[in-house]
Amino acid sequence: MTAFPAVSMAARRRRASLRLCATVFLLDVAFCKGFVEDLDESFKDNRKDDIWLVDFYAPWCGHCKKLEPVWNEVGLEMKSIGSPVKVGKMDATSYSSMASEFGVRGYPTIKLLKGDLAYNYRGPRTKDDIIEFAHRVSGALIRPLPSQQMFEHVQKRHRVFFVYVGGESPLKEKYIDAASELIVYTYFFSASEEVVPEYVTLKEMPAVLVFKDETYFVYDEYEDGDLSSWISRERFQNYLTVDGFLLYELGDTGKLVAIAVIDEKNTSVEHTRLKSIIKEVARDYRDQFHRDLQFGHMDGNDYINTLLMDELNIPTVVVLNTSNQQYFLLDRQIQSAEDMVQFIHSILDGTVQAQGGDSIWQRLKRIVFDAKSTIVSIFKSSPLMGCFLFGLPLGVISIMCYGIYTADTDGGYIEERYEVPRSEVEGQDPKEESKEPLEPRSQDALAPPHQEPKDVLEKKTD
Ligand SMILES: *[C@@H]1O[C@H](CO)[C@@H](O)[C@H](O)[C@H]1NC(C)=O
Ligand SMILES: *[C@@H]1O[C@H](CO)[C@@H](O)[C@H](O)[C@H]1NC(C)=O
Repeated sequence: MTAFPAVSMAARRRRASLRLCATVFLLDVAFCKGFVEDLDESFKDNRKDDIWLVDFYAPWCGHCKKLEPVWNEVGLEMKSIGSPVKVGKMDATSYSSMASEFGVRGYPTIKLLKGDLAYNYRGPRTKDDIIEFAHRVSGALIRPLPSQQMFEHVQKRHRVFFVYVGGESPLKEKYIDAASELIVYTYFFSASEEVVPEYVTLKEMPAVLVFKDETYFVYDEYEDGDLSSWISRERFQNYLTVDGFLLYELGDTGKLVAIAVIDEKNTSVEHTRLKSIIKEVARDYRDQFHRDLQFGHMDGNDYINTLLMDELNIPTVVVLNTSNQQYFLLDRQIQSAEDMVQFIHSILDGTVQAQGGDSIWQRLKRIVFDAKSTIVSIFKSSPLMGCFLFGLPLGVISIMCYGIYTADTDGGYIEERYEVPRSEVEGQDPKEESKEPLEPRSQDALAPPHQEPKDVLEKKTD
């Protein structure tokens, strides 16, 4: 009884000082940096008992500078909500050997370090997203749902989440393994059969379920294969607002992605109708298509044009095959949901001709396309420079060099980006020094993917 007021006093005082900080923040940013610890060599020995959220930055990197104010706010908020997660930053160029031990390959890299595990953050660099990630990954791997009320609460809070139903079993062990790798993306719970909503019918126990899109799906080992890959496929909602980053992530699913490419600012019926057709198909034909397809819309055609090396007139519908980089287009407008369903069926039964792909021919086309865009952008930004460069024989040589250079870096790039996750996913030893499920990025860890759309569909290339 006596301790209680004392605690709340302390909390109130802390809150007051934080409020003060938030006010002062505008005047003196330096004051609030106090909530983010500047880390040095001693970090390696001192960190063990705590959970740390660390920004590995380079002083010269522009994206790091952009992250800095966000990071200070993250530090401030984690402190004010009393989170056990400590927030720090490390100049990865000054402590490069330590940074590379943690598996830092680009700047900025955000990692949550928990014991021997290092989890990479790959989402948007906003305060709320980063904090949500820290809560999710720092908390229990599998969160028990002891009551129906808790279950309902979780259903309201999370658009997609996984639940294990049942007691101890080999399936549960697989579930825990999968969760330790995929907690960076989604939530994992466990519950007893009584707690699961009544509308759920389970033929077998134990079971793993995903709740999303106002319904649920049950994992079936025979039909769905490996549990981790099923979770990777099912961790997205059925209908999404697609951007370059998300499209890149969807590459993990290996599914077809049907996208209405529209101009969101254009309120004409052509644009809005196409979006609602895709939404309708996603909802009404879910049982038929959810294993093979993701649905969504994308605002504007710049990104998709670069990706497909094509000039799409919007509005239009494009279906991408994320496992082989092919895509499908219709030469006429989709008029109705039935029309769209027919289009999907003809893709699935192979009667529509696929375009694109990852053949040698496509790679050559990519080199030419990139060279062409480079030349166009040089002329656009500086016509004089363009004339000088390309008016001379030297220009010819530089184009050739550019072609060779692009071809080279392309290959190296893919290897660098994708070798790492594979070996790590295979060697699922939880005691690994640095565990980085599916970390694909070199360079600027989350450089806007629009800069390299070609990589989205090239990720399955081997
Ligand atoms: C909206 O889209 C229609 C159909 O594509 C097009 O004709 C029209 O010019 C667009 N309007 C604006 C404001 O961009
Ligand atoms: C998508 O690509 C995969 C891998 O090449 C292929 O097996 C599958 O048939 C393709 N899907 C369609 C609908 O073309």
